[in-house]
Amino acid sequence: MRAKIVAGNWKMNNNKDESKTLINELKNSLKDFSFNNTRVLVAPTFVNLSSLVKRANKSKIEVVAQNMHQAKNGAFTGEISADMLKNIGIKSVILGHSERRSYFGETDAILSEKVNTTLKNNMEAIFCFGELLEDRSSENHFKVVESQLKNGLFHLEASAWKNIVLAYEPVWAIGTGETASPQQAQEMHAFIRAIIKEKYNETLANNVSILYGGSVKPSNAEEIFSKPDVDGGLIGGAALNAQDFIAIIKAI
Ligand code: 13P
Repeated sequence: MRAKIVAGNWKMNNNKDESKTLINELKNSLKDFSFNNTRVLVAPTFVNLSSLVKRANKSKIEVVAQNMHQAKNGAFTGEISADMLKNIGIKSVILGHSERRSYFGETDAILSEKVNTTLKNNMEAIFCFGELLEDRSSENHFKVVESQLKNGLFHLEASAWKNIVLAYEPVWAIGTGETASPQQAQEMHAFIRAIIKEKYNETLANNVSILYGGSVKPSNAEEIFSKPDVDGGLIGGAALNAQDFIAIIKAI
């Protein structure tokens, strides 16, 4: 059975003190939560990863990275390697977030290298993709998503997919307050599963967790998560508030 996942992407928010307060609140609120098949992830900024890994110790909250460089090591000023992340206890990394694609020039080709590096290091890739508003307005959203998946992931062997989580984030819904309707999310997630089945097989397609991201809030989480192909969410703004994030986790 594929895992349900609620992940908080803190982006460039929360200094050390704020991160500490937030993780402590989450830990306390989740003390009696029955995780069963549900994973709860938080992705703080790089400088706070190490201290949060320690703070999350003995809880079921997983601390993950927001990005990673594709090279093993070397002259890449300002970048962070897989080995550096693993060495402080990080096991998963978000790759290809639309903000990385649009503000930092991350292309499908770079992302496919990042995926390879992640998997080579036995880490999990939380691979983000999604169409722009103009893609949806011109009814190209399926084509765009298909090409992002093909270029970023379809070179992988079937066995590599056990370390892949997908996060569909339509760019027009990120931080805008405008959410894809539960029907739009379900339609895209079912499409994603169908093309994975076509490329690989049905078991693999059924085993991969596909998260939805884009203005998920306590008020809309339950309906979005109720859709059969939506396995959880990648949460931005609402993950910065403990009560909101907990409410979203409880909606899964
Ligand atoms: P918001 O939830 O703020 O729309 O952000 C979504 C997102 O980008 C998560 O990675």
